[in-house]
Amino acid sequence: MIENETMKSILARRSYKLFDSRPISDEALETIVTAGLYAPTGMNRQPWHFTVIRSREMLDKLAAARKAMPLPPGIPPAALKAMGDPMRNAPVMILVSAKEGGTGFQDSCLAMENMFIAAASLGIMSGWDHATVVDLVPNNPELRAELIPEGYILHAAAFFGYPGPEVKDRGERKGTVSYV
Ligand SMILES: Cc1cc2nc3c(=O)[nH]c(=O)nc-3n(C[C@H](O)[C@H](O)[C@H](O)COP(=O)(O)O)c2cc1C
Repeated sequence: MIENETMKSILARRSYKLFDSRPISDEALETIVTAGLYAPTGMNRQPWHFTVIRSREMLDKLAAARKAMPLPPGIPPAALKAMGDPMRNAPVMILVSAKEGGTGFQDSCLAMENMFIAAASLGIMSGWDHATVVDLVPNNPELRAELIPEGYILHAAAFFGYPGPEVKDRGERKGTVSYV
């Protein structure tokens, strides 16, 4: 494998939750968002909208709404507690939504991955938050109206922040590639 700066960032990216409270600078955030905006989109439609949440008030509002959500089946409350509450510390959350129809889902996920890698290149960790995508925002009319433009569907949501405790190694990834 060729080891260059891009590969280093891709391999450094890890899903993360236990952020410390250091803020992300405007310049770093602009770098991350720019990486998202330069992801490919079907027919170059760029059908998306990025909602960058930095307001502590909004992050707290999301955290409170999340606390009120019923637990997914099979997950004991203690397990969720052990995972921590990412919204308590992460200084930034980014939502990517897209106009209904077309390739909005794929475009949004590609944008988010670009942002994850750009963040990793700056020593900033990230973590996808699926409950926000499938439940928290779509099923809360007030949050939906505040965060997502009319006619758009939320496809991706993630936290960004500097790491607190140690980042665990993910182990090697092997055995699922065939070359034909
Ligand atoms: C579609 C999708 C949904 C995910 N949802 C969550 C989630 O809700 N909470 C979470 O902690 N991690 C979530 N993850 C992160 C995965 O658990 C993580 O990517 C996986 O364990 C591999 O670890 P790595 O990202 O550190 O390589 C999600 C990842 C994807 C791609």
